[in-house]
Amino acid sequence: KELLNTNFIGKEIIYLNSVDSTNNYGKKMAENDFTDGTVIIAEEQTSGRGRLGRHWISPKGKGIWMTIMLKPDIKPDQASQITLIAAMAVLKGIKAICDMDTMIKWPNDIVLNGKKICGILTEMSGEIERINYLCVGIGINVNSEESDFTDKAIDIATSIKIAKGVKVERKKLIARILDYFESYYSTFLIKGSLKFMMDEYKRSLANIGKEVILIGKDGEILAKAEDVTAEGHLVVRLGDGTLMEVSSGEVSVRGI
Ligand code: BTN
Repeated sequence: KELLNTNFIGKEIIYLNSVDSTNNYGKKMAENDFTDGTVIIAEEQTSGRGRLGRHWISPKGKGIWMTIMLKPDIKPDQASQITLIAAMAVLKGIKAICDMDTMIKWPNDIVLNGKKICGILTEMSGEIERINYLCVGIGINVNSEESDFTDKAIDIATSIKIAKGVKVERKKLIARILDYFESYYSTFLIKGSLKFMMDEYKRSLANIGKEVILIGKDGEILAKAEDVTAEGHLVVRLGDGTLMEVSSGEVSVRGI
């Protein structure tokens, strides 16, 4: 807390030794009430969740497993924009504290040499018109060793320590990420759009100009990623030359 320079993000921190999932904890907490910007941090998650119902490996003391709880006055279809903000904040935090250049794999992964070091799971509750609350779950493999990953995961995931060879102080990294997050998030709420950070976001994208496989409910389509809109949608060119906008809720992108 003493490392933080924020006004409201992380002013309240719930620190847990072990929990099933910090996002689950946040949802339960939200059944009553909570202070906007509360951050839930756990040393270990016993059933950490990833996107699309996947499991998220969260060994004790090895990573940053946290959830930022928010009460934004935005529409549900804007929620994915908060994921983009979180990705940008993680990337900038890692650059500042670890002096490492990572890239964003649209919409919500941070990758290093093509392997994932961070995933973001944003979940919301609310009406059709307005959001009640948002849980922005951030999982970063900080000091995980190769042995912490399953054989399957090691092909696609890595950690800051594996890449850098030295341990990183998680506290400092958390504080810097929350600083960046608040700064981007506050600007977003004032401006009502992500236009102000899109140039920076696009420069950090691993996808642009690359082939992507769109995995949707109608099967898989091969396309080429060309752009991202200020709404956070990916613009892809299909085989027949037409452009299509896809949102993260509709598809999952494979390959970078
Ligand atoms: C993904 O890439 O699939 C998203 C992974 C999100 C993991 C984080 S860790 C903190 C929070 N609690 C969870 O159970 N999941 C998110």
